[in-house]
Amino acid sequence: MNKADKRGYPHYMLKEIYEQPEVIENTLKDRLIPGSEDINLSDIKLTQSDLDGVHRMVVVACGTSYHAGLAGKYLIEKFAGIPVEVEIASEFRYRDPAVDKNSLIIAISQSGETADTLDAMRKAKQKGARIIAISNVAGSTIPREADHSLYTCAGPEISIASTKAYTSQLIALYLLTLKLAQLKGGIDRETYRQRLEALSSLPEKARKMLDCSGEMKELAGRHKDMEKIIYLGRGLDYALALEGSLKLKETCYIHSAAYPAGEFRHGPMALVEEGLFVFFLATQDALLDKSLANLREIKDRGAYVVALAKEGSREVGEVADRVIYVPEVPDEFTSAPAVIPLQLFAYYMAAARGHDVDKPRSLVKSVTDS
Ligand code: M6R
Repeated sequence: MNKADKRGYPHYMLKEIYEQPEVIENTLKDRLIPGSEDINLSDIKLTQSDLDGVHRMVVVACGTSYHAGLAGKYLIEKFAGIPVEVEIASEFRYRDPAVDKNSLIIAISQSGETADTLDAMRKAKQKGARIIAISNVAGSTIPREADHSLYTCAGPEISIASTKAYTSQLIALYLLTLKLAQLKGGIDRETYRQRLEALSSLPEKARKMLDCSGEMKELAGRHKDMEKIIYLGRGLDYALALEGSLKLKETCYIHSAAYPAGEFRHGPMALVEEGLFVFFLATQDALLDKSLANLREIKDRGAYVVALAKEGSREVGEVADRVIYVPEVPDEFTSAPAVIPLQLFAYYMAAARGHDVDKPRSLVKSVTDS
C-alpha cells in the first residue's frame, strides 16, 4: 500500500470517509431515474408475488452491517408495514430460529464472506426462507447463494473500520424500503415522491456534512486522552449511536457504550458523573421533545455533552455544550449524513493517539473462520 493509493490522505479510513458523497451517488445511480417515480431495482429481481405470504423479515448481519440492519428495521416497518427482526448472525446460526417459507431474510455483509452471516443465511434457507443479500463484493459467496441480491457501490474498502460501506448499506436499505412499500401499497404517493426527492439530495447533504471535519479534529484532539464515552439516541439515532460507539472502540481502544436514550434512565444513568463525555444524537424531529428531556437530565448531572441535531434545532444548542448540525433531510434518512461526524471523531482521535488507524489491533477486515 503506497501513499499514492491513499490519494494524498494519511490513512485509508479518512479517504473512505471523504468518498461517501460519491459512494451515495453511485449506489443511487441507475436506481433512481430522473423524472420517473419508479425505483429500478431490476438487479434484485423482487416482484409483488415474491412478497405474497411474507409475514416477517429477519435481518442477519455482524458488526457495522448489523447496525445498518437496525436502521432498515425502523424504515421497513414504518413504510412497508412488514415486521422485521434484526439478528446478530453469530447468535442466530447457533439456535433454532422460527423462520419458514413465509420469512424473507436480509443478509447484510460488506465482504459477502463473513462466516457467521453466511451460515445464518444457509440455516434460514434450509428452513425454506428466501434470502435477499446486500453486499459490496460482486461474486462473493453471500450474494451468490442468495435468491435476490442488491449490490452496494462503495468500491473496495481497505480500512478495517468500515465507513463508506456502512453508508452504502443504508442507501441500499432506503431504496429497498421504498420498493417494498410500493409493492405492498403501504405508502401514499406524496410521501413516496417526497422521499424520492430527499434520497436524491443525499450526496449533496453528505458533502456538506464533511465541512465539520476541522471541528471534529479539534474536538478529538482536545479529548484524545479520555477513558470512556457514552453514545445516546432514540429510534434511528440509537442504531446510529451503536455505530458511532463501535467506530470509537475499534479505532481508539476506548471503552464506549451506546444506549437508547429513554432506556438510559433504567440503570446506566448511574454512570454519569462530572465531565463524562456523552455524544447525544438528536436528529429525529419526531422524537425531539423526548430527546431534549433526556439531554437535560444528563446535563443536570454534570456530563459534557456534544449533540448532533438538525440544522435550526435551536433548543438542542441551548442545552448541550456543543452541537454539530446535520443538514435538513427527513428523519428517516438523517443517519447517512449524521454518521460522518461520528466517523471523523473516531478517526481523528485514533490518529491523535498514534494508533495504526487502518489496522486496529486484533482485528481483520473480514471474519471468515467460524
Ligand atoms: O463484511 P461484513 O460486513 O460481513 O463484516 C461484518 C463486520 O465484521 C464488520 O462490519 C466489522 O464490524 C467492521 N470492522 C466494523 O467497522
